[in-house]
Amino acid sequence: ATVVVLASGTGSLLNALLAAAREPGYPAKIVAVGVDRVCQATDHAEAAGIDHFRVAVKDYPDRAAWDHALTDAVAAYEPDLVVSAGFMKIVGPAFLERFGGRFINTHPALLPSFPGAHGVRDALAYGAKVTGCTVHLVDGGVDTGPILAQEAVDVLPDDDEAALHERIKVVERRLLAQVIAAVATRGIVSDGRKAEIPDERAH
Ligand code: GRF
Repeated sequence: ATVVVLASGTGSLLNALLAAAREPGYPAKIVAVGVDRVCQATDHAEAAGIDHFRVAVKDYPDRAAWDHALTDAVAAYEPDLVVSAGFMKIVGPAFLERFGGRFINTHPALLPSFPGAHGVRDALAYGAKVTGCTVHLVDGGVDTGPILAQEAVDVLPDDDEAALHERIKVVERRLLAQVIAAVATRGIVSDGRKAEIPDERAH
Protein backbone atom coordinates (compact mmCIF):
# COMPACT_ATOMS: atom_id res chain seq x y z
CA ALA A 1 0.00 0.00 0.00
CA THR A 2 1.17 3.55 -0.68
CA VAL A 3 0.91 6.17 2.05
CA VAL A 4 1.09 9.96 2.16
CA VAL A 5 1.94 11.25 5.66
CA LEU A 6 0.76 14.68 6.82
CA ALA A 7 2.61 16.43 9.66
CA SER A 8 3.03 19.84 11.30
CA GLY A 9 5.52 19.43 14.09
CA THR A 10 8.84 17.89 15.06
CA GLY A 11 8.10 14.92 12.84
CA SER A 12 9.15 12.30 15.38
CA LEU A 13 6.08 10.23 14.53
CA LEU A 14 6.92 10.61 10.83
CA ASN A 15 10.47 9.47 11.54
CA ALA A 16 9.18 6.38 13.31
CA LEU A 17 6.98 5.56 10.31
CA LEU A 18 9.90 6.07 7.93
CA ALA A 19 11.98 3.65 10.03
CA ALA A 20 9.17 1.08 10.16
CA ALA A 21 8.64 1.34 6.40
CA ARG A 22 12.33 0.59 5.80
CA GLU A 23 11.96 -2.81 7.53
CA PRO A 24 11.97 -5.65 4.99
CA GLY A 25 8.45 -6.91 4.41
CA TYR A 26 6.68 -3.86 5.80
CA PRO A 27 3.49 -3.74 3.70
CA ALA A 28 3.32 0.01 3.19
CA LYS A 29 5.50 2.54 1.37
CA ILE A 30 5.57 6.24 2.30
CA VAL A 31 5.53 8.05 -1.03
CA ALA A 32 5.25 11.67 0.13
CA VAL A 33 5.09 13.94 3.16
CA GLY A 34 2.77 16.94 3.30
CA VAL A 35 2.96 19.78 5.79
CA ASP A 36 0.88 22.89 6.48
CA ARG A 37 3.79 24.98 7.76
CA VAL A 38 7.57 25.13 7.84
CA CYS A 39 8.45 22.36 10.29
CA GLN A 40 11.05 19.71 11.01
CA ALA A 41 8.94 17.02 9.35
CA THR A 42 10.03 18.45 5.99
CA ASP A 43 13.69 18.04 6.99
CA HIS A 44 13.08 14.39 7.86
CA ALA A 45 11.39 13.78 4.50
CA GLU A 46 14.28 15.51 2.73
CA ALA A 47 16.82 13.40 4.63
CA ALA A 48 14.91 10.25 3.70
CA GLY A 49 14.81 11.30 0.03
CA ILE A 50 11.02 11.38 0.04
CA ASP A 51 8.89 13.86 -1.89
CA HIS A 52 7.38 16.56 0.26
CA PHE A 53 5.06 19.49 -0.21
CA ARG A 54 3.69 22.35 1.85
CA VAL A 55 0.14 23.65 1.61
CA ALA A 56 -0.14 26.57 4.05
CA VAL A 57 -3.50 28.14 4.89
CA LYS A 58 -2.00 31.64 4.66
CA ASP A 59 -1.21 31.08 0.96
CA TYR A 60 -4.92 30.69 0.10
CA PRO A 61 -7.84 33.13 0.05
CA ASP A 62 -9.91 30.90 2.34
CA ARG A 63 -10.12 27.47 3.99
CA ALA A 64 -12.09 25.98 1.10
CA ALA A 65 -9.33 26.89 -1.34
CA TRP A 66 -6.76 25.45 1.06
CA ASP A 67 -8.83 22.27 1.44
CA HIS A 68 -8.93 21.80 -2.34
CA ALA A 69 -5.23 22.54 -2.72
CA LEU A 70 -4.31 20.01 -0.02
CA THR A 71 -6.62 17.44 -1.58
CA ASP A 72 -5.03 17.93 -5.02
CA ALA A 73 -1.49 17.79 -3.60
CA VAL A 74 -2.19 14.47 -1.86
CA ALA A 75 -4.24 13.06 -4.75
CA ALA A 76 -1.29 13.59 -7.09
CA TYR A 77 0.31 10.55 -5.39
CA GLU A 78 -2.86 8.45 -5.59
CA PRO A 79 -2.18 6.98 -2.11
CA ASP A 80 -4.06 4.03 -0.70
CA LEU A 81 -3.85 5.64 2.76
CA VAL A 82 -3.29 9.11 4.18
CA VAL A 83 -1.88 9.28 7.70
CA SER A 84 -1.84 12.31 9.97
CA ALA A 85 1.26 12.10 12.13
CA GLY A 86 0.68 15.24 14.15
CA PHE A 87 -0.99 17.23 11.36
CA MET A 88 -2.54 20.15 13.24
CA LYS A 89 -5.21 21.26 10.80
CA ILE A 90 -8.83 20.18 10.42
CA VAL A 91 -9.31 19.07 6.82
CA GLY A 92 -12.43 20.14 4.93
CA PRO A 93 -15.18 18.41 2.93
CA ALA A 94 -13.15 18.19 -0.30
CA PHE A 95 -10.42 16.20 1.44
CA LEU A 96 -12.87 13.94 3.26
CA GLU A 97 -14.85 13.40 0.06
CA ARG A 98 -11.66 12.12 -1.57
CA PHE A 99 -9.94 10.31 1.31
CA GLY A 100 -12.63 9.65 3.90
CA GLY A 101 -12.44 6.06 5.13
CA ARG A 102 -8.72 5.85 4.43
CA PHE A 103 -7.45 8.90 6.36
CA ILE A 104 -5.98 7.85 9.72
CA ASN A 105 -5.01 10.09 12.64
CA THR A 106 -3.34 9.52 15.97
CA HIS A 107 -4.43 11.51 19.01
CA PRO A 108 -2.44 11.61 22.29
CA ALA A 109 -5.40 10.77 24.56
CA LEU A 110 -7.98 8.00 24.97
CA LEU A 111 -10.84 9.38 22.85
CA PRO A 112 -13.55 10.39 23.42
CA SER A 113 -11.74 11.85 26.41
CA PHE A 114 -9.69 14.98 25.85
CA PRO A 115 -10.15 15.67 22.12
CA GLY A 116 -8.63 18.72 20.43
CA ALA A 117 -5.24 20.33 20.19
CA HIS A 118 -4.27 19.96 23.89
CA GLY A 119 -5.25 16.40 24.79
CA VAL A 120 -2.13 15.77 26.88
CA ARG A 121 -2.39 19.04 28.80
CA ASP A 122 -6.15 18.53 29.37
CA ALA A 123 -5.73 15.00 30.76
CA LEU A 124 -2.99 16.20 33.10
CA ALA A 125 -5.01 19.23 34.24
CA TYR A 126 -8.04 17.03 34.85
CA GLY A 127 -6.03 14.77 37.14
CA ALA A 128 -6.45 11.65 35.02
CA LYS A 129 -4.47 8.69 36.36
CA VAL A 130 -4.40 6.92 33.00
CA THR A 131 -4.41 8.44 29.54
CA GLY A 132 -2.97 7.10 26.30
CA CYS A 133 -3.33 7.38 22.54
CA THR A 134 -5.97 6.65 19.95
CA VAL A 135 -5.54 5.75 16.29
CA HIS A 136 -8.76 6.52 14.43
CA LEU A 137 -10.30 7.24 11.06
CA VAL A 138 -10.80 10.97 10.48
CA ASP A 139 -14.40 12.03 9.94
CA GLY A 140 -15.98 15.49 9.69
CA GLY A 141 -15.53 16.22 13.40
CA VAL A 142 -12.50 16.93 15.57
CA ASP A 143 -11.03 13.62 16.80
CA THR A 144 -14.47 11.96 16.50
CA GLY A 145 -13.93 9.30 13.82
CA PRO A 146 -14.21 5.54 14.30
CA ILE A 147 -11.50 4.16 16.58
CA LEU A 148 -9.05 1.61 15.13
CA ALA A 149 -6.70 1.13 18.11
CA GLN A 150 -5.97 2.51 21.55
CA GLU A 151 -3.31 1.98 24.20
CA ALA A 152 -3.16 3.26 27.77
CA VAL A 153 -0.29 5.22 29.29
CA ASP A 154 -0.07 5.84 33.07
CA VAL A 155 0.14 9.42 34.29
CA LEU A 156 2.97 9.69 36.83
CA PRO A 157 2.73 11.99 39.88
CA ASP A 158 5.57 14.25 38.75
CA ASP A 159 4.56 14.33 35.09
CA ASP A 160 4.52 17.62 33.29
CA GLU A 161 2.97 17.95 29.82
CA ALA A 162 6.24 17.39 27.97
CA ALA A 163 7.22 14.26 29.92
CA LEU A 164 3.78 12.71 29.63
CA HIS A 165 3.50 13.58 25.93
CA GLU A 166 6.89 12.03 25.20
CA ARG A 167 5.85 8.79 26.90
CA ILE A 168 2.63 8.80 24.87
CA LYS A 169 4.56 9.44 21.67
CA VAL A 170 6.69 6.36 22.33
CA VAL A 171 3.48 4.31 22.24
CA GLU A 172 2.08 6.22 19.24
CA ARG A 173 5.18 5.55 17.17
CA ARG A 174 4.73 1.80 17.58
CA LEU A 175 0.92 1.69 17.48
CA LEU A 176 0.61 3.85 14.35
CA ALA A 177 3.14 1.73 12.44
CA GLN A 178 1.31 -1.43 13.53
CA VAL A 179 -2.11 -0.10 12.51
CA ILE A 180 -0.85 1.06 9.10
CA ALA A 181 0.67 -2.37 8.45
CA ALA A 182 -2.55 -4.10 9.52
CA VAL A 183 -4.74 -1.81 7.40
CA ALA A 184 -2.39 -2.20 4.44
CA THR A 185 -2.72 -5.97 4.56
CA ARG A 186 -6.27 -6.51 5.84
CA GLY A 187 -8.15 -3.29 5.16
CA ILE A 188 -10.76 -1.64 7.33
CA VAL A 189 -14.37 -2.58 7.86
CA SER A 190 -16.38 0.41 9.07
CA ASP A 191 -20.08 1.04 9.56
CA GLY A 192 -19.52 4.76 9.95
CA ARG A 193 -19.45 4.75 13.76
CA LYS A 194 -17.28 1.70 14.43
CA ALA A 195 -14.29 0.41 12.48
CA GLU A 196 -12.52 -2.91 12.64
CA ILE A 197 -9.38 -4.27 11.05
CA PRO A 198 -10.31 -7.84 10.14
CA ASP A 199 -8.42 -10.44 12.19
CA GLU A 200 -5.63 -12.45 10.63
CA ARG A 201 -7.96 -15.43 10.88
CA ALA A 202 -10.90 -13.69 9.18
CA HIS A 203 -11.42 -14.89 5.59
C1 GRF B 1 1.61 13.39 18.42
O1 GRF B 1 1.52 13.14 19.81
C2 GRF B 1 0.24 13.44 17.82
O2 GRF B 1 -0.67 12.56 18.42
C3 GRF B 1 -0.16 14.86 18.08
O3 GRF B 1 1.00 15.61 17.79
C4 GRF B 1 2.13 14.81 18.15
C5 GRF B 1 3.07 14.83 16.97
O4 GRF B 1 4.32 14.57 17.44
N1 GRF B 1 -1.26 15.27 17.24
P1 GRF B 1 5.61 14.81 16.47
O5 GRF B 1 5.45 16.19 15.86
O6 GRF B 1 5.56 13.74 15.43
O7 GRF B 1 6.77 14.66 17.41
